[in-house]
Amino acid sequence: MTRIALFGATGFIGAACAAALFGAGHEVLPRPARRLWVDGEALAHEPRRAYRPHLARLAAELDGVEAVVNAAGVAVSAARPSPGLVGANAAWPLLLADACEQAAVPRLVHVSTAAVQGRADRLDESLRYAPVNPYARSKTLGEQLLRDAAAAGRVAVTLYRPPSVHGPGRRMTTAFAAFCQRWPLVTCGDGDQPVPVALIGNVGAAVAAILAARSAPLVVSHPYEGHTVRTLYETFAPGRPLCPLPTRAVRLLLRAAEPTGQWLPPLSAVCRRAELLLFGQGQESGWLDARSFRLPLGQPAWDEVAAAAPHRPPPGDRPTP
Ligand SMILES: NC(=O)c1ccc[n+]([C@@H]2O[C@H](COP(=O)([O-])OP(=O)(O)OC[C@H]3O[C@@H](n4cnc5c(N)ncnc54)[C@H](OP(=O)(O)O)[C@@H]3O)[C@@H](O)[C@H]2O)c1
Repeated sequence: MTRIALFGATGFIGAACAAALFGAGHEVLPRPARRLWVDGEALAHEPRRAYRPHLARLAAELDGVEAVVNAAGVAVSAARPSPGLVGANAAWPLLLADACEQAAVPRLVHVSTAAVQGRADRLDESLRYAPVNPYARSKTLGEQLLRDAAAAGRVAVTLYRPPSVHGPGRRMTTAFAAFCQRWPLVTCGDGDQPVPVALIGNVGAAVAAILAARSAPLVVSHPYEGHTVRTLYETFAPGRPLCPLPTRAVRLLLRAAEPTGQWLPPLSAVCRRAELLLFGQGQESGWLDARSFRLPLGQPAWDEVAAAAPHRPPPGDRPTP
C-alpha cells in the first residue's frame, strides 16, 4: 500500500482516480488544489514567482506521502486565454512538482491531455506538441514546465495523456448522445477511422497502473479504446446511417474557420471536435500497451453509458476536452 495525495479528487477524473487507487489498496488522501492566476509570459520567464507564498504550506501537506496524483486543472477546451487558465494548467502543476521536491515525495503523476498533440496525424508518447487552442496551449506549458522539473532531477514525473473522456452524467457525453440522435451522423471516408476517446473508469485504471509500476516514462498515453467513427456513432445511436461528406470540401471549410478560431476559442473547440469525428486520429501503441495493461471496461460499459445518457442537450453546455 502506498500513501497517495490526490489533487482534484472532487472532479470527474479525480473521483475516478480515487476509486481506482483505493480499489488497488492504496491510502488515498484527497487534497485541495491552489487557485493561481498567472500571466503566461511571466510564467515562462520567472516560473516560480507566482506561487512562492504557497510552497511551504503545500510541501507540509505532503509530509509522509509516497506519491502525488494531480487531477486538478481547468478542463474547458473552449476556454479563452486567461491568467486563471495558465495558473490552473501550468503554474499549479509546477508548484506541485516543487512541493514534491521539498517534501521528498519521489513520484508525481500529472493528468495532462492528448490535446497537447492537437492535429498530429498520430498521437504518441513524444514531446512533439501541436496545441490548437488556449486550453491545449496551457496544458502544453504545464507539460513543458514539468518536463524541465523532471530533467533537473527534482521528482520523477509522469505526464499521463487521456483523450476526451466520457462517463455517466458527463456534459460532453450527454451532448454527444443528443447530437447523435438529432443530427445526421456525418463522417469523411468510410467511418472506419480510429477515434481517441476514453471511458472514465478506464482512465482511473490507467492511473492506478502507472502507479503500480516501480517507474514509468515521462509521457504515458491512454491506450486506444478501439473506437472508430462508426462504432462510436453506433454506440450512441444504434441503427442510424452514416452520412459521408466530401473530405476535400470539409478540410477547406475547417481551414477557413481557423483564423477566426484563433480569437474565438469556442469556435476552435467545436472545429477540433468536428475534425476528430470527421477524420478520426490514429495512435501509436504506448507504454501501457507494452506492459500488457488491459482496459477493465469494454463495449458493454460504453453501451451502458450511452443508454443512460438523456438524449437532450443539457442547458448551458460547455465543451470539455
Ligand atoms: N474531462 C476530460 O475529458 C479530460 C480529458 C483529458 C484531460 N483532462 C484533464 O484532466 C484534468 C481534470 O479534468 P476533469 O474533467 O476531472 O475536470 P473537473 O471535473 O472540472 O475537475 C477538476 C478539479 O480541479 C480542481 N480545480 C478546479 N478549478 C481549478 C483551478 N482554477 N486551479 C486548480 N485546480 C482547479 C477542482 O478540484 P479541488 O476543488 O478538489 O481542488 C476540480 O474538481 C484537467 O487538468 C484536464 O485538463 C480532462
